[in-house]
Amino acid sequence: MNIVILAAGMGKRMRSEIPKVLHPLAGTPLVGHVIEVARALGPSRLIVIYGHGGSLVPDAFAGQDDLHWVRQELQLGTGHAVAQTIPYLDDSDTTLVLSGDVPLTRQTTLERLMAAAASSAMALLTVNLADPKGYGRILRSEGRITGIVEEKDATPEQRRIAEVYSGILVAPTASLKRWLGQLSNDNAQGEYYLTDVIGFAAGEGLLIGTAQPDAIWETLGVNSKTQLAELERIHQLDVARRLLEEGVTLMDPARLDVRGRLSCGSDVTIDVGCVFEGDVVLGNHVRIGAHCVIANAHIGEGTLVEPLCHIDRAIIGARAHIGPYARLRPGTDLGREVHIGNFVEIKNSQMADASKANHLSYVGDATVGERVNIGAGTITCNYDGASKHRTIIGDDVHIGSDTQLVAPVHVGAGATVGAGTTVWRDVPPGTLALNEKTQVNRTGWHRPQKPKK
Ligand code: UD1
Ligand code: CA
Repeated sequence: MNIVILAAGMGKRMRSEIPKVLHPLAGTPLVGHVIEVARALGPSRLIVIYGHGGSLVPDAFAGQDDLHWVRQELQLGTGHAVAQTIPYLDDSDTTLVLSGDVPLTRQTTLERLMAAAASSAMALLTVNLADPKGYGRILRSEGRITGIVEEKDATPEQRRIAEVYSGILVAPTASLKRWLGQLSNDNAQGEYYLTDVIGFAAGEGLLIGTAQPDAIWETLGVNSKTQLAELERIHQLDVARRLLEEGVTLMDPARLDVRGRLSCGSDVTIDVGCVFEGDVVLGNHVRIGAHCVIANAHIGEGTLVEPLCHIDRAIIGARAHIGPYARLRPGTDLGREVHIGNFVEIKNSQMADASKANHLSYVGDATVGERVNIGAGTITCNYDGASKHRTIIGDDVHIGSDTQLVAPVHVGAGATVGAGTTVWRDVPPGTLALNEKTQVNRTGWHRPQKPKK
C-alpha cells in the first residue's frame, strides 16, 4: 500500500508562524501522530507532502529514513497536493490518503477502511456529525455515493447533510492518478479539491464504500488553537481511561497529562496535576504525589514520590522516598530505599542503597556509596569554571550539614565530615575531617540600635 500524508498547508486559522502540522498534541507534532499510525499499517511507500514552512516540517523528522518527502511549492489545494506524489506512487498497490491535521485516527479504524475498499472500488472514512459545519458533505443518491461537496460550495440543503468526509480515503492508484489529472479549480475557493475525485469515480459507475470510526474524535481535524486544545483534552481523557482500565488509580482522570508513554505496574496511584513525558515506567505500588513532572524515568516498586517533584532522565530504585520538592536531573541513578528530601538537586550521580540527602543539597557528578547520610546544605563543588569533576563518597560516610566538597575529591568509607567543613583534600576511610575554626564569644558587645523617633 502507498500512504500519502497531506501536510503542506499553512493553517491560517492557527494564527501562528509555525506550520500547523508541527503544533504538538500530547508532546508530539500533529503529523507525527499520523506518521505513527501510518507506519503501523506497514506501507510499501510512506510519502509526506510538505510546503508551507519550507524544510521546517521535514527537519522535525530528520533521520527517519522511511519517510519520502515531496514538496508542494504552492498550496493550491488537497488534490494538487496529492498530484505532486504521482511519480512516486506504485500503481500495483492501492493508495491511502491521510491528513496531517487529523491526528487521532486509530489503526483499527484504518484497517476497517481498507477492508471496505477491498470490497468496493474505493472507500471513504466518513462520520455523522451533529454540527457538520466546515466539512465536506457526502452526497448520496439511493444510498450510493455520488460525490463530496465542500461547505463553501454547498447549497443550504446540502449543508444540512450530517455525513461528512474525514479527509481520509483509499483509492486504486492508477485511477486516482487519472482523476487527479482531470481536476479543475473552478469552485468557491479556487482550489484543486481532492474530494472531486469521488464525483469522477461515481461518474464511472464505481461503487464507493465507507467505513466509520469507533469514536467521532478519531476524525476530528485541527484548524485552530481551540480545536487543538479540545483534541488534547479528548486524547488525555482517553489515555486516562486506558490507565484506569489497567488498574491504575488516578485521583482525577481529568487532571493528568501524558506526553509520551507511561507504563504502570499494579496498584500505582497518581495524584492530580502530574505531567509525564517521554518514556516513563512506574513499578508496582508506586505512588506519585500531586503536581510532579516526570520525564524519561524508571521508578522502582513501592517508591513514594511526594508532591511537586521534577524528575528528568533518572532511575530510582525500589522503596525510595523522593520529595516533596526534589529535583532529579539527567543521569541520576538511585538505589533502593534512598531518601531524597526537599530542595535537593541531583545530577549525573549515583547513590547506592539506603543513602539519604534529606534537605537543601546539591549532589552533582558524584558517586555515593551505601548508607551515606548527606547533611542539610551540602554542596558538591563540581565545576571549576572550565571542567566538571567527580566527588566519590564511600559506604557509611556521614557528611555534616553545610559542607562543601570541592571536586575532584574522595571521602573514604566510614569517614565523618564535620558540619561546615570545606573538603578540598581526600578524606581517608574511617577518619573525621573538619576545618579548624575558632569561635569567639564577646561580652559587652552592643548591636547597633535604630534611633528612636
Ligand atoms: C478537507 C476536505 C474536506 C474534509 C476535511 C476533513 C478537501 C478539498 N476538503 O477540508 O472535505 O471534510 O478536510 O478534515 O480536501 N493541504 C496540503 N496542500 C494544500 C492544501 C491542504 O497539503 O494545498 C493539507 C493541509 O496541510 C491539511 C490537509 O491537507 O493537512 C487538509 O487541508 P485543509 O485546508 O485543512 O482542508 P479542509 O478545509 O479541512
Ligand atoms: Ca482541515
